[in-house]
Amino acid sequence: MDAEKIRGDFPILQRRVGGKPIVYFDNACMTLKPVHVMEAMNRYYMEFSACVGRSGHRLSSEAEEAWAESRKTIGKHVGAKKSEEIVFTRNTTEGINIVARCLGLRKGDVVVTSDREHNSNLVPWQTLSKEGVEHRIFKAGDSFDIAEFEEVMDRNVKLVSVVHTSNLDGVTLPLKEISRLAHDYGALVLADGAQAVPHKDVNVRKLGVDFYAFSGHKMLGPTGTGALYGRYELLERMEPLISGGDTVEYSTYSGHKFLKPPERFEAGLQDYAGMIGFAEAARYLDRVGKERVEKHVVYLNRIITEGLSGIDGLRILGPEEAEQRSGIFSFVLEGMGYHDVAMLLDNNANIMVRSGQHCVHSWFRAHGIEGSVRASLYLYNTEEEAESFVDEVRKIAKLR
Ligand code: ALA
Repeated sequence: MDAEKIRGDFPILQRRVGGKPIVYFDNACMTLKPVHVMEAMNRYYMEFSACVGRSGHRLSSEAEEAWAESRKTIGKHVGAKKSEEIVFTRNTTEGINIVARCLGLRKGDVVVTSDREHNSNLVPWQTLSKEGVEHRIFKAGDSFDIAEFEEVMDRNVKLVSVVHTSNLDGVTLPLKEISRLAHDYGALVLADGAQAVPHKDVNVRKLGVDFYAFSGHKMLGPTGTGALYGRYELLERMEPLISGGDTVEYSTYSGHKFLKPPERFEAGLQDYAGMIGFAEAARYLDRVGKERVEKHVVYLNRIITEGLSGIDGLRILGPEEAEQRSGIFSFVLEGMGYHDVAMLLDNNANIMVRSGQHCVHSWFRAHGIEGSVRASLYLYNTEEEAESFVDEVRKIAKLR
C-alpha cells in the first residue's frame, strides 16, 4: 500500500509543529479525514443544505437523495441485506444504547458481555441492572475460550453484547463462533464494531450478528457520526430511544403511529452533511481495500513490536505477536508514568498517542494496572514514523 500517496489526501498531515511533521498515532480514538470527506460535506453545505423527509422542494429532494444514497453505501459497507437496516447515530455508544433501551429487556432477563468492554458496552447494562436485568461477564483474555463463554450462558440470556476488536490491545474476538453459540441458547447478539470496521471487511450476515454498532469518526469519517445495523424484523419490533419530529407517520392529541425503521429511530433534524461524509469515508476505504489497510497496520505494528523488544520493564498489553493486535501497540513502561511517556513523545517528537485507561477502566482495575500508553496505527502511517516511535520510546526508557 502506498502510504505516501495516501498521505497526500490528508491536509492535516502537511502540518508542521516546531518545524517538524506530526506523527498521528491516536487512530483508535479518532482518525484523520481525507479531503474527499470534507469536500462531500461541503457539497451539502454549498449546494443543497436543506432538511430531509419534510419539504418537497428541489434542495430538499437533492438532500434526500444524498441521504438515502449514504445509507445505502453504509449498509453495503457492512453487508446489510437492505439499507433500512442501518440507523444513523452519533457514535457506537448511541447505537448500543438504542439496543439496551429499546429491545424490551425485562427483570429476570440476562445480558452477557466480555470482561474487556469499553464503557459504552458496560455502563448501559449496569444501568439496566438497576431495573432487574442481570449482567453477566465472561473472561475473554488474550485467547478466547468458548468454554469460558458457555459457562455464563443459559436460556435466560436474551442478549450477548461483545466487542469485535478491542480498543485495549487490538485483539479480535471470534464473533461468528460467539453468535452461533449465543443463538443456540436463544439469545440475540450485538457487537461493538468501533475498532473492527475501520480495518476489516465486516459482513454482518456472515458474522451472524443481530445488531452491530460502529462509528464514522474512527474510519476517516466526520466527528459525531455512526450507525447501528439491526436485523429489520428486530428493528420493527422496537420503539425509538428518542421520539419526536419525523419519527411518526401521524399523531393525534392522544396518540401517534411510528414510522417504519430506520426513520422512527432518527428523531429531529439530522447530521445530513455528516452522514454524507461518513459514506464518502466508506467509499474511500473501499477503494483502498480493508485487507491492505489491515496488512499495513500489522506490518507497522511488527516494526514497533520488534523494535521495542528486550527493553527492561516494557510490557505489551495483549499477545506478543503483532498479527494478533491489529494496529494497536499498548504498553506499560515500568518506572515511568503513562501520561509522562505520552507527553514526552509529544513534546520531543510530535508523536501523538493516547495514555490512560482508554475507557476500559473495569479491565485495568481488575488487572491492577494503572494505565497504558497506546499507539494506534492507520493507513496513512509510515515505516519511518514507526521507526521514530521506536527510537523515541527507547530514549524515554533510558531516562528511568
Ligand atoms: N474508544 C476510543 C478509544 O479507545 C475513544 O480511544
